Amino acid sequence: MENREQWGSRVGFILAAIGSAIGLGNIWRFPYVAYENGGGAFLIPYFFALLTAGIPILILEFGVGRSKRGSAPLSFSRLSKRFEWLGWFQTFLSFGIITFYSVIIAWSINYMIFSFNLKWGDEPEAFFYGDQFLNLSDINGFNFGGIQWHIFIPLIIVWAALFLIISRGIKKGIEKLSLIFMPILLILMVIIVLRAIFLPGALEGLNHLFTPNFDYIVPWGSNPEWGQVWIAAYGQIFFSLSIAFAIMITYSSYLPKDKDVNNSAFITAFSNSGFSFLAAIGVFAAIGFMANQAGSDVSEVATAGLGLAFVAFPQIISEFPAFNEFFGVLFFLTLVVAGFTSAISIIEVVVSSIMDKLKVSRAKATAWICLIGFLISLIFITGTGLYFFDILDNFINSFGIVISGFLELILLGWFIKLATIREENNLVSDFKIGYWWDIMIKVVTPIMLLIMIILNFRNEFS
Ligand code: PFF
Repeated sequence: MENREQWGSRVGFILAAIGSAIGLGNIWRFPYVAYENGGGAFLIPYFFALLTAGIPILILEFGVGRSKRGSAPLSFSRLSKRFEWLGWFQTFLSFGIITFYSVIIAWSINYMIFSFNLKWGDEPEAFFYGDQFLNLSDINGFNFGGIQWHIFIPLIIVWAALFLIISRGIKKGIEKLSLIFMPILLILMVIIVLRAIFLPGALEGLNHLFTPNFDYIVPWGSNPEWGQVWIAAYGQIFFSLSIAFAIMITYSSYLPKDKDVNNSAFITAFSNSGFSFLAAIGVFAAIGFMANQAGSDVSEVATAGLGLAFVAFPQIISEFPAFNEFFGVLFFLTLVVAGFTSAISIIEVVVSSIMDKLKVSRAKATAWICLIGFLISLIFITGTGLYFFDILDNFINSFGIVISGFLELILLGWFIKLATIREENNLVSDFKIGYWWDIMIKVVTPIMLLIMIILNFRNEFS
């Protein structure tokens, strides 16, 4: 096989994989998804999905990448000529994500700058819902206002930085960045959490997160929408671990052939969940503080979705007892750093697919992908951007991920010899996986995903 670039060290690979996994999904998405889905109740389906789907699929994707040594379309086609399209489908999904993911990073850069003087002032509501900044009031409307220029420049910076890192390649670009950014990310998060848990009211917020409520997640319980909680948990695990998006296959295709994959998958998954919990503790403590300030109940305070990071948080930061600007900058810097290492992995997927297929140079593929990605992402900074954002986000999270995951498991589970992948993985890994893994990949997770696909279609079209 051709000469493929390689990671300089196993630590470099693992940090890059963790860097892809830990992103906006952990800091901004996990807390509000957990919040919307019953707080503590959500953790049960979350762990179920992590252990039965997340980790087994990560092991599968690391194994396929390591042994087939190609971008997703190439790796799939090396498993069977008939599978190449699945790699392209996943590459396409990744590309869809990066078009709006880059915009959220650009917002975060803006907010980081605004934090220096708390630019939203005493009237955060007007700042967000008016036409001053995000135009959140247009979220359901179709309003092709002009480009919002204040987001334009940060967006160019994001894409230029993506180009610079990816064009330098695996070892000098992605690995080096991960070795520097990931420790910084952890330090930033720890500082934020330490501040948040000592705020008055923090405990109330944490209680809401950690009180389990079994009744909320079973068909015979109090919640008629219980199925949604399970769908949300699976969606979160897939999005958060960057699985079924061609990413982990691509990253592991740069591993030396004799490197462990099973252990790496466990380390990646647990680091990712650990970070999510850290973030959720920080966020819920802050929500508790906000409820305390407003004299209301925790459940009345938090806005969900986009609003959590970009409406509730600025408000919370403004109300901090001291060093508000400092913590504002820190919080949004954390979003930028976490988001950027994930964005890198998404672009790498597309670049490596194109390089393998068209045999063009890395520089050329990167330049084209970044240029096209940048142009498409401009849609999301027009007056109607949030409207499209909602549609795309909903499509990818409700359908894209589960369908892509389901197809991957059926094709790899039933149409090739799955046991061969397990045996090859075990040969190079200290930690040996058993037959339980085959059962998760072939039976348990496909059945769960199929139920979710059906529930999703029913929700959408009923
Ligand atoms: N895992 C990243 C996060 O949680 O923010 C996001 C992500 C990266 C999703 C790459 C999908 C993907 F392909």
